[in-house]
Amino acid sequence: MDRRSLLRYGASAAVLAFVGLNAAWVATRFRRQLPQTTAAGGNAGAAGKALVATSKVPVGTGIVIDGASPIAVVQPKAGDFVAFSAVCTHAGCTVAWAGSGFSCPCHGSTYDAAGKVTHGPAARPLSAVPVRVEGDNVVRG
Ligand code: FES
Repeated sequence: MDRRSLLRYGASAAVLAFVGLNAAWVATRFRRQLPQTTAAGGNAGAAGKALVATSKVPVGTGIVIDGASPIAVVQPKAGDFVAFSAVCTHAGCTVAWAGSGFSCPCHGSTYDAAGKVTHGPAARPLSAVPVRVEGDNVVRG
């Protein structure tokens, strides 16, 4: 490999590293958490583990459970719990409960309580997460 090729490959590698680091920074920046609408839930991603006490999700409301994969839990009618990934389908920010659905703090997307997009830029619904009630808890799985 001659000197010119070595310089060309080195410059390409530097550009790729720069782009990769910026992509990682953007992903981290847009994964903000909203403490006023979230609950601690260190095991939110584990199937069969309790996500949240049923009492923490009153009928007609939702809550976002923090974790590596934040999960939104909603109780649309008494005893009926549904859950979604709380990661906005636009660019990956964590959504927050906003009265009758979820909103994204990053670019303003909104979702209804069933996870469907009601306002963009997000184009896809929140991903459903299977849950069931076990005792006094909403459990993943
Ligand atoms: S990341 Fe949610 S609207 Fe852009």
